[in-house]
Amino acid sequence: MSANPPVAVIVLAAGEGSRMKSTTLPKVLHPICGRSLVGHVVAAAEELAPQQLVVVIGHLRELVAEHLAEHHPAARTVVQEQQNGTGSAARTALEALAADGVALDGTVLVATGDTPLLTGETLRALAEQHAAQGNGVTVLTAVVPDPTGYGRILRHPADGSVTAIVEHKDASPEQRELREINSGVYAFEGKLLAEALGRIGTDNAQGEEYLTDTLHILRSAGHRVGAVVAEDHRDILGINDRVQLAEARRLLNDRLLERAMRAGVTVVDPASTWIDVQVGYQPDAVVLPNTQLQGATRLGEGCRVGPNCTLTDTVVGAGAQVSNTTADRAEIGERCEVGPYAYLRPGARLARKAKAGTYVEIKNSELGEGAKVPHLSYIGDATIGEGTNIGAASVTVNYDGVNKHRTVIGAHCRTGSDNMFIAPVTVGDGAYTAAGSVIISDVPPGALGVSRAQQRNVAGWVARKRPGTAAAEAATAALDGTPEA
Ligand code: UD1
Ligand code: CA
Repeated sequence: MSANPPVAVIVLAAGEGSRMKSTTLPKVLHPICGRSLVGHVVAAAEELAPQQLVVVIGHLRELVAEHLAEHHPAARTVVQEQQNGTGSAARTALEALAADGVALDGTVLVATGDTPLLTGETLRALAEQHAAQGNGVTVLTAVVPDPTGYGRILRHPADGSVTAIVEHKDASPEQRELREINSGVYAFEGKLLAEALGRIGTDNAQGEEYLTDTLHILRSAGHRVGAVVAEDHRDILGINDRVQLAEARRLLNDRLLERAMRAGVTVVDPASTWIDVQVGYQPDAVVLPNTQLQGATRLGEGCRVGPNCTLTDTVVGAGAQVSNTTADRAEIGERCEVGPYAYLRPGARLARKAKAGTYVEIKNSELGEGAKVPHLSYIGDATIGEGTNIGAASVTVNYDGVNKHRTVIGAHCRTGSDNMFIAPVTVGDGAYTAAGSVIISDVPPGALGVSRAQQRNVAGWVARKRPGTAAAEAATAALDGTPEA
């Protein structure tokens, strides 16, 4: 059966997260796989389309509020002034909802902001079981290999029903042996949650108001307390320190790569490939080792990316080949060739079959269809027409120290190696430029632009100025023993 959308989902994210040992970043904003910890939880909640989505913030609240406003504008934030426990955090959210006249008839889900592997699917299953069983509260639990630090689920010895949750710090040695733990995610009947939160105390090892106490309170008041055991305990991993952060990143990455592989992407080495949640891909894309796909990067059909690529918010067209490349907000067209050792910066746009080769940097520039910048060049603020070839070691000299200027090079041009294009400058369609030229004025279509000093050879200079060197001996030998020739 399918439950109605929850009345509210409350995400607790006010805590300091002291075990992260972070001085600048609140725990819940630490990123993994393209989202913050709290962002993953909020995204899971959004899948259920709750009527209200509330995030409780407190520690470094401005940073968290700003982050949520930018990435999850549908989530509303409420401030818990003093972070004295998960119970008081939940109460803060309920009070804000009540103040807005939101009636709490129905399911209210509560989740912690530090469980980034939580999925919408798991939340939905929890809400459905909760409704189906007619519980006052249903807690998501898991049986874990190492329960250290988690609250333990206490069950009735006779019928196995949940009686209470005891926090690690408050647990007896026997209770600490229990491996069924509280995930920190619950479905409540909204009104019962409000009632129970009115009755929690602070008589515990941490002197805090524990949300977990509501289970015992509701059971004692005669309400049904249920539990859903997560199929995979890793889904509810709570992040308290950076060791767990790395563990969660690896698990989420594995999950995302598996999804990509099942959709037809070849991942040659999953252990050295990192992928963000928003990355998109088409079948037959191939990802070679040591590659990071970040942000909204898109891989086209049959493209080949890697080894050693870091692509951020970059589109890779079908059949393109990208190796040993760093690209940020770039567009790589169909069947382009990029790298090895290319750096594509924001606004680099390569039309189909274009090439950015070895040791080439491109920024805010368009390369037309089939245009090539094969070697050792910097192309910034330029437009390069279709079929044009840029000689090795060329630079569009775009910056005069104050302003940036554009270089426009037409279609089917052949520019010589070691050219400097002093922008603003235009090279017409079908023009050539000579190797070693500094192009300071426009070259008309079909013309040859040359600007270089006449070469002068000073005969015998080495023999006179560098006598006795290997160079002088080699020259003498080449000149048949007549050094002055
Ligand atoms: C909590 C649970 C524990 C459970 C574990 C699952 C309680 C008392 N304990 O413990 O049973 O096994 O999560 O990961 O609930 N927060 C606030 N305001 C506060 C305190 C915390 O918003 O005053 C937020 C934190 O930002 C965090 C979440 O609540 O996102 C959980 O807090 P944390 O301190 O990590 O609780 P745990 O000790 O992990
Ligand atoms: Ca925690």
